[in-house]
Amino acid sequence: QTGYITIDPGYKNTGATKSAITFLDGEEGVLNYRGYSIEDLAEKSSFLEVAYLLIYGELPTEKQFAEFEHEIRTHTLVNEDMRKIFEGFPVNAHPMGVLSSLVSAMSAFYPDANAQNSEAETQLHIIRLLAKLPTIATWSYKKSQGHPVNYPQNELDYCSNFLNMMFSLPVAKYNVDPVVSAALNKLLILHADHEQNCSTSTVRLVGSSHANIFSSISSGISALWGPLHGGANQEVIEMLEAIKADGGDTQKYINMAKDKSSGFRLFGFGHRVYKNFDPRARIIKKAADDVLNKLGINDPVLEIAQKLEKAALEDDYFVQRKLYPNVDFYSGIIYRALGIPTNMFTVMFAIGRLPGWIAQWKEMRVNKEPIGRPRQIYTGAPKRDFVPMSERK
Ligand code: SDX
Repeated sequence: QTGYITIDPGYKNTGATKSAITFLDGEEGVLNYRGYSIEDLAEKSSFLEVAYLLIYGELPTEKQFAEFEHEIRTHTLVNEDMRKIFEGFPVNAHPMGVLSSLVSAMSAFYPDANAQNSEAETQLHIIRLLAKLPTIATWSYKKSQGHPVNYPQNELDYCSNFLNMMFSLPVAKYNVDPVVSAALNKLLILHADHEQNCSTSTVRLVGSSHANIFSSISSGISALWGPLHGGANQEVIEMLEAIKADGGDTQKYINMAKDKSSGFRLFGFGHRVYKNFDPRARIIKKAADDVLNKLGINDPVLEIAQKLEKAALEDDYFVQRKLYPNVDFYSGIIYRALGIPTNMFTVMFAIGRLPGWIAQWKEMRVNKEPIGRPRQIYTGAPKRDFVPMSERK
């Protein structure tokens, strides 16, 4: 049986598909979405424009973008009955658990979502996901604060609407700071897609059984939550806080990370594909300095991050294993500066990655890819006869 099967744990050397969406070069530290570099897009584009590019393959004309944005702005409301599901969560529920549950519940509120949908029906489900994720995401934050949830405001752009729903209170008008909105746009662009990473592969695998798009995206949210994947951005800040509380002794944590028996990893370091600096980390590191200066914030955790990065980049253990800061290493420092709480960091990653998941799910379905069903090498018990319970020792 093992004649023709090769096992590749973690699919480190397995290509699962052909895709025209995102190009990574791990050695050169290159990341392009539909041929455009993330350096260009992060500087010159908006998150919603990049979402359009990833999903439909081209940068939108003014008319196309206006229609796309109008569709999204007019679908941001969530069915009021979803509030009842939401109200059932405990106040300390992790926002990723709430998000994956409510996105999965969308398949119950839109039961027409299925494999036979026309392109127009699928387009409507795509708009609903893009439009409603920020609304759902902000609910869990407001509940955790004991504050009333906010409704989306159609006159606001995507990022401003999210920030308003997060931070607006009935007692005071909330004015979106353009520095904050611009930083959020840039962060979401940098998280928008990343070829066949763990959560995207999950979305494609679930979608390959012709499960509906809501269930497929919900499975991606669950995969992203893991601390080795999107959950790392929360782990990084908690690690940096621990180092700060520990007197800023970065070398102690570097030594722990080098000692396998400690079970400790430097979160925000290392990557399956990038064996050089993650190009997103390079942009985010610069943006972190920029945003904190503009907002007049002096966050001691940034200094610890820079000290940790410098020490690791000079340490043979990390150099030999080509462990560099990844997208999660500095992103939390910016989210914190924007007022976003630590347990919402991975939710921010999900909001950013949503257009990538959608684009990859759509490509898998349009290309009529077969159901994903890998094989195995069996290592269990040889064939044996059944033993009645009375005779078992
Ligand atoms: C994301 O895939 C993507 O594209 C993901 C992502 C995306 O946009 O979708 O880029 C987003 O998930 C970024 C990664 C966030 N995760 C973390 O920051 C968690 C910490 N990093 C690691 O757990 C690890 O680096 C991974 C999970 C990112 C990659 O793991 P691999 O490719 O399976 O590498 P590995 O675990 O086999 O490690 C190789 C070696 C091992 O040592 P040896 O067995 O060779 O002696 O490097 C060591 C590991 O022990 N190592 C680390 C380490 N990461 C790897 N040692 C200390 N600290 C680390 N962070």
